[in-house]
Order: sequence, then C-alpha cells, then structure tokens
Amino acid sequence: MNELISIKNLSIRSASETLVDSLSLTLIQGEPLTILGETGSGKSLLAQAIMGILPAGLSCQGDIALNGQRMTAKERRHYWGRHLSMLPQEPWQSLDPVMQGREQVAEVYREVLAYSAAAAQKATQTQLQQLGLADIQHKLPSQLSGGMAQRLAFAAATAAGARMIIADEPTKGLDTGQRDGIVQLLKSQTENGGLLTITHDVAVAQQLGGRIIVMRHGKVVEQGSASSVLTTPTAAYTQELIAAAPCYWTDVTPQQCHQPLLTVRDLAQQRNGKTLFRHLSFIVHHGEIIGLYGDSGCGKSTLGNTLLGLLAPNSGNIEWHADIPRHQKLKLYQDPPSSFSPAASLQTLLADVVRRHGLQAQQIPPLLQALMLSPSLLTRSSHDVSGGELQRIALLRAMLLSPKLLVADEPTSRLDPITAKQIIQLLVKAARQQQCALLLISHDETQLKKVCDQIIYLQDYARENVINHCD
Ligand SMILES: Nc1ncnc2c1ncn2[C@@H]1O[C@H](COP(=O)(O)OP(=O)(O)OP(=O)(O)O)[C@@H](O)[C@H]1O
Ligand SMILES: [Mg+2]
Repeated sequence: MNELISIKNLSIRSASETLVDSLSLTLIQGEPLTILGETGSGKSLLAQAIMGILPAGLSCQGDIALNGQRMTAKERRHYWGRHLSMLPQEPWQSLDPVMQGREQVAEVYREVLAYSAAAAQKATQTQLQQLGLADIQHKLPSQLSGGMAQRLAFAAATAAGARMIIADEPTKGLDTGQRDGIVQLLKSQTENGGLLTITHDVAVAQQLGGRIIVMRHGKVVEQGSASSVLTTPTAAYTQELIAAAPCYWTDVTPQQCHQPLLTVRDLAQQRNGKTLFRHLSFIVHHGEIIGLYGDSGCGKSTLGNTLLGLLAPNSGNIEWHADIPRHQKLKLYQDPPSSFSPAASLQTLLADVVRRHGLQAQQIPPLLQALMLSPSLLTRSSHDVSGGELQRIALLRAMLLSPKLLVADEPTSRLDPITAKQIIQLLVKAARQQQCALLLISHDETQLKKVCDQIIYLQDYARENVINHCD
C-alpha cells in the first residue's frame, strides 16, 4: 500500500478559534479520496495546508508526509507541479488575467517539463481539445464563462502530470456532461497516483468511488468506502447531507404572477462574434421565480447581464413596465470573489452600501442569522472566509437593497446540499414577500423544477429556445 499523502493530527488555528481539529487522513495510490462536508468546515484550509500555502495569521500543527516522508511546508513546495498539484476553489485566482488561454497551459509544459515551444503548443492544443476548449486559445480569462475558466484552470494544474492532485470543487459551474468529463479525466490522471477531491456534489463523490471523508466544524464526522458512506451512512449529519439533494425537495407551488415587470421581445445576443441566443421572447412578472438552464458557456450569464442593462442586446428589446432604480436591479455574481474588494473588511464594504443607499444597519444581524453566518466573519476580508461563506455574504448584500430584479448566477454552487437547500428556500421566500423577480441560473435542472414558476431552456443558437411554464 503506497501512502502518497499521510496526515496525522493536523490542527489549523486562527488567533481566536480552531478551524481544523486534529484531523488525520491517508491518500493511497490508485484510491481516490473525496471530502464532502459543510460549508466553512475547513476543507479548503486542509488543501492549502497540504500545499503549504495557508493564509498568514493561521497556524498549523501536526504531521504532513508525502511519499512516506514527513516534510515541512517549505519542503513540500519542491513537489509542486510534477508531483503535487492543486486546483484551487476559485479558478480566476489561479489564472493570469492578462495571459491568453493557450499560453496559461503552454507555459507549464515549457517551464515545468522543459518542452520546446513547438512541443508545448502541440501538447496544449491536444489538452484544450480534450476539455472542449479548442475555441478559447486566444481568449483572456475575462472572456471566458465560469465553467470554461474552471476547465482552463484544470488544464494548467494538471499539465505537468503530477501524481498527486488536490482538486477543490473542480466541477462547480459545469453542466452534467462536462462534470462527468472532468471526473473521468481526474480518475484517469490518478490511476497511478493519488487524487484528493473536495466537492459538494454527492454524484461526483459517487462517480469517483474510492474512500470518502465527511467533515463538519473542522472535524471528520464519518469516513469509509464511497459505497458504504453514500448508501448506508451512519452519522446523522451524513444522512441529512445525502437526503438534501434537490431530487428529494418538496415542490414549491408555482404561482400565477400577474403584474408584468419587463417584457423581452425577439432578443438576440452575440459575444466574440458567436451568436449565443436569438428569437427569445418572454415576460418577467413581479415576484416570479424564473429558472435559466443550459450548458456551460451557452449564454446564461450573458442573458442575465442583458436583462440587467449591463450589456446592450444585438437585436430585439426589453421593455420595463416599472421605473426601477439601478440599485434594485441586482446580480449575484457566479464567482463571489470578483464582487468584493479584498482590501477592506467585509464589515466596511457592507457599511459603505448602507451609507450610500441610506439603509438601516440593523437589518444586517437578522440577515446574518437567516443566512447561517457568524457575525465575526465580517471582521475579515473576502480572502479570509470560505467560498460558501462569501457566496452567502454576497446574497446578504443584495438582500439589503430589496431588489426588484435579482439575477442569481449559480447562487448555491459553493454550498453543501443542506445549506444550498436552506438558501434556495430563503431566496424564494424573500422574493415572494418582497415581490422581487428572481432569475435563478443553474446547471441543476432538478433544483429549478422544484422551485421555479417558469424555466427558460437556453439552447445552442442553432436550436430554438424553449420556455416551460411549471404548473
Ligand atoms: N484567513 C483566515 N482567517 C481566519 N479564518 C479563516 C481564514 N480563512 C478561512 N477561515 C475560516 O475557516 C473556516 C474554514 O474555511 P474553509 O475555506 O476551509 O472552508 P470550506 O470547508 O472549504 O468551506 P466551503 O465549502 O464554503 O468552501 C471558515 O469558517 C472560514 O471562515
Ligand atoms: Mg472551500
């Protein structure tokens, strides 16, 4: 049994609390290890500790060994690239914003594997093609959809052929086909190596097989083979986690919303010379929950941006039936870090919004509670909270402004199934109460079918778009 990564009694602490508590695990060659668990439970910190890149201000105790050798964080850094590689939770943070897609990967072949420029280009082309990214060679990260950026970051992280891969939520923002493709690639990359995956997607954990660890509050609550943990979980938390999948949600009764907010007529949109959608017509009513479903890169976020007036349509028009101020037409960004400055505390950023719009700061504590967020998080910057915590703080900021149109772009992509369910329920309830039209963008059709009044299926432009009224 070849132990590639072995961790004993790892604890990670901040000045005020223990974030990971005496955790032990072993990653064995050829046997994928998957971590499921609550948002904020310490999964990403564990991955960062293995790589030796914990944020300043956090301390780490315990043993981390690679290939059976106990090593310091500095020693582990020598393993980066060829032996140990990490795909971080936020793809944008691992991509160079001013470098074309092709270069981001070719650089790894040249610099880490010492390929010639021509060989590096050839290898890059093959890899991008495999990931369905042949068209993005000359694009900058800012010109990519969330799912494309996710796959490009994956290409760069795995190009040097590391035997040990740590993938932090590698499939979020991907449609089912692409998700399955990434899972297969991860599995094949690690047939002779080790794969440690962090995911909120129980289906991904199932496909990966091997062993599973379930984490909550910095501790392991259950571990075992994937088949036993997923089919006969013993811990109450794991049972609850598995039961929270959207297929088990009770349907929210669709509502007939009568007062139109905006009418979309014959809308068409192009990006980078490619038609994304055309002949799109529908009405959005006050308080209506609308799902927007389609493959990664098909134009869901672009449609959201067009409705919000952030992009002008190529043709067609959007007629507003009410005079809604700019700050009540809002968007929850697909990648929450892009909507927060890391230079100020979250508290300061929220106080700015309260001051700018003459709001009541007393609204914040009950919203924190409803979103299951500890008030102490606000003393930190956006870099120093977990992915799922930041996603909920973005939601809090939007809810403070009582929006009339809220475009929520994959609002639960960084949340565990239990928290995701609670947050969607909260969003739907708030939208109904405040008569806010909610456009939910998601790759999860089951989730949309459970909560939406109508679903817009955005297809490849060659096919017609379909609008389904859920009643
Ligand atoms: N730099 C930091 N300083 C203090 N606390 C931090 C810092 N970074 C993260 N934390 C806290 O540590 C806990 C674990 O964070 P981590 O990012 O590991 O969670 P996670 O399990 O990956 O969550 P998610 O599923 O939401 O990504 C969270 O409560 C987070 O607020
Ligand atoms: Mg995380």
